[in-house]
Amino acid sequence: MRLDKFLCKSTDLNRAAATLCIELGEVSVNGCIVTEARFQVHENNSIVWQGERLVARPSRYIMLHKPLNTLSSNVDGDYPSLFHCIDIERAEDLHIVGRLDADTSGLVLLTDDGRWSFEIIRPDKQCPKTYRVMLRDPIATDVAEKFSAGIQLQNEAKLTAAATLKVINEREVLLTITEGRYHQVKRMFAAVGNRVNGLHRETIGDLQLDLAVGDWRFLTAKEVANFMAADLV
Ligand code: URA
Repeated sequence: MRLDKFLCKSTDLNRAAATLCIELGEVSVNGCIVTEARFQVHENNSIVWQGERLVARPSRYIMLHKPLNTLSSNVDGDYPSLFHCIDIERAEDLHIVGRLDADTSGLVLLTDDGRWSFEIIRPDKQCPKTYRVMLRDPIATDVAEKFSAGIQLQNEAKLTAAATLKVINEREVLLTITEGRYHQVKRMFAAVGNRVNGLHRETIGDLQLDLAVGDWRFLTAKEVANFMAADLV
């Protein structure tokens, strides 16, 4: 990890202050002063600032039940940021792993571990995500087959990857996709002439949302490790 990031993870400094301390020559790595913020360090290195060897805080991994009408963003906009739900120190260090639209509710993951989030969102991992979808019109009989074969979305070069549709009733379905394209679920249903009236993410990989609206919890070590395992599909 970068030295400035390590300083942030082991002190109360923010990124700008950490960079300044490094550039002023206040930080040593294995006995040598390092003045480059982007210098790569390992947690086993002896990193000293103000006469103390620094120890990085452990990374955090969080599940949140995102309420409707909240933004997947660190800042408020037309709606409040979902970060208002998370009463935790240094929440600003967390980032969202796979955003949801403001009018979508459900499972959101947050972390300060960029390598972990990359394991979930990297396209070749094809991490499955299941959405409960409420539809304007009754689901047509050929939609499951079309989604399974892949469909053409407007302004996209490639067909969507095979997706699985389970019909609950004529206006309620579960859709599992392995990509994360912009407004993907809404655009898939638009492409078959229907419209999404309600959208809720229930699972990411093996992880199932098990919280009330607006609640959050830390993931267990096993839940964290599951995403680092080989391929999810
Ligand atoms: N697909 C959408 O259209 N919106 C979301 O929020 C998530 C997936």
